[in-house]
Amino acid sequence: MTNDIAGSQNQEGLKLFVGNFVDTPSAGELRIRREHLLAVSPEGYITHLAPLHSDSSQLLLSTHPDAAGSSLTQIPAHSFLLPTFTDLHLHAPQYMYYGTGLDLPLLQWLEQYAYKAEERIDASAELAERVYGRLVQRLKENGTGCVSLFGTIGVRANLILAKKMQEAGLRGFIGKLSMDESPRPTYGESSASASLASVTDFIDSLQSYLSSFKPHERLVEPIITPRFIPVCSDELLVGLQKLGQEKGVRVQSHMCEGRDQMDMVMKSRGKRDQDLWDELGFLGPKTLQAHVTYLDENMIPLVKERQLTMAHCPLSNAYLSEKQFPLREAIDADLQVGLGTDIAGGYSPSIQVQMRQAVIISRLREGARCESLDCSFADADAQEADAASSKNVKVDWKEAVYLATRGGKKGMGLGGALEVGMEFDVQLIELASRSSPSGTGPLDLFDLKVEEDPSKLDEAWWNESIERWWCNGDERNRKGMWVQGKKIA
Ligand code: GUN
Ligand code: FE
Repeated sequence: MTNDIAGSQNQEGLKLFVGNFVDTPSAGELRIRREHLLAVSPEGYITHLAPLHSDSSQLLLSTHPDAAGSSLTQIPAHSFLLPTFTDLHLHAPQYMYYGTGLDLPLLQWLEQYAYKAEERIDASAELAERVYGRLVQRLKENGTGCVSLFGTIGVRANLILAKKMQEAGLRGFIGKLSMDESPRPTYGESSASASLASVTDFIDSLQSYLSSFKPHERLVEPIITPRFIPVCSDELLVGLQKLGQEKGVRVQSHMCEGRDQMDMVMKSRGKRDQDLWDELGFLGPKTLQAHVTYLDENMIPLVKERQLTMAHCPLSNAYLSEKQFPLREAIDADLQVGLGTDIAGGYSPSIQVQMRQAVIISRLREGARCESLDCSFADADAQEADAASSKNVKVDWKEAVYLATRGGKKGMGLGGALEVGMEFDVQLIELASRSSPSGTGPLDLFDLKVEEDPSKLDEAWWNESIERWWCNGDERNRKGMWVQGKKIA
């Protein structure tokens, strides 16, 4: 998309970037724009993106007071800017024990590990500072610029989390947990009214903290977070729904994650999980639900109609869910989906790992589908016909990039691509450089010669190199990060 207003704008304070830009405006569409000029307003929004040699770019450069100075960043020839990753589901206190304790089914796992860790974080501000300080560092290393977080039940620890995110320059939705029917006597809220008072206190305290920042500098916001139905009374859920409406605050929770959790809702409430959420008025465009692994052809119309956003957490699902999320079907139905790590249900804080895992799960589902039909991957005609008729359930790497960037942000009212008007949240990825001419970090790009004229690198080279980075790249390829126009790493 180009910007026609570039020439008529006040250029004062615009930051300029020249080089290669990669994004995914829609699922499966990898857009590679080489030798482009991008401008960012002082408030951190993209105001211009067009070929460097276009009239509009040349006009912008000729009228910018500092186009040859420090306002301009030249992206190196074998590098590109990509939108930052969005993690739609991460339990911040569980970062304390990530990578351990995945030996139990969901409900036992919660009682054995999750609630205990969260209780410790609420009991010690020092521990909260330490765990959350480390977490934000790791998010940056992994290129995650925006996260929807589950915290703990305590107000203090959630304010520490919010401040760590804000100070690190990371965008975040901060979820103080609401749970008035916890099975753990020492970690729960005493009543629906006490729980509602606590979340109101959190929202007001966070908004008061944010009031000293200019609107575009406010990177965090509260999100109402009933943990999941089994630990919330009807009275609490009704109150939270009303509070969200009154304050215009988003809501997140877990829905249809695993068999034991869904059975528990049916046993205690006599209703299916999704039906109860819907009856209570929670399913709408401002709601984010993690997992929804039991999404099926009966539930798809409800999710679509309500404009619900879903966080697909493929690594966590492999451990804690009997069923795997039908991602192909969700994308084909044009549902709003992004990716989540679900730390510590998922053991990796990397969205790149989740992208790969999402593709792998889709390949396993496709294998199982073929096997059940007694057909083979080698039957290319049948595979193609199935893809055309939406029977094939494979998802490819470009679709995974979409989920990790635009898909995750869209449902949260944000951009996630590189287009005029969207927030400038990007990561700088280096494929090769003069000092590592055959590939940066883990990459070995055998046919690459860095000293060659980079304009000779064609679309096929870029497609292939980016796919190689997608498969094997890591933090060594990440050379910078900006959120809302500000350099943070
Ligand atoms: N359901 C309720 N709480 C949790 C949690 O902490 N993690 C996961 N994966 N599922 C949950
Ligand atoms: Fe979770």
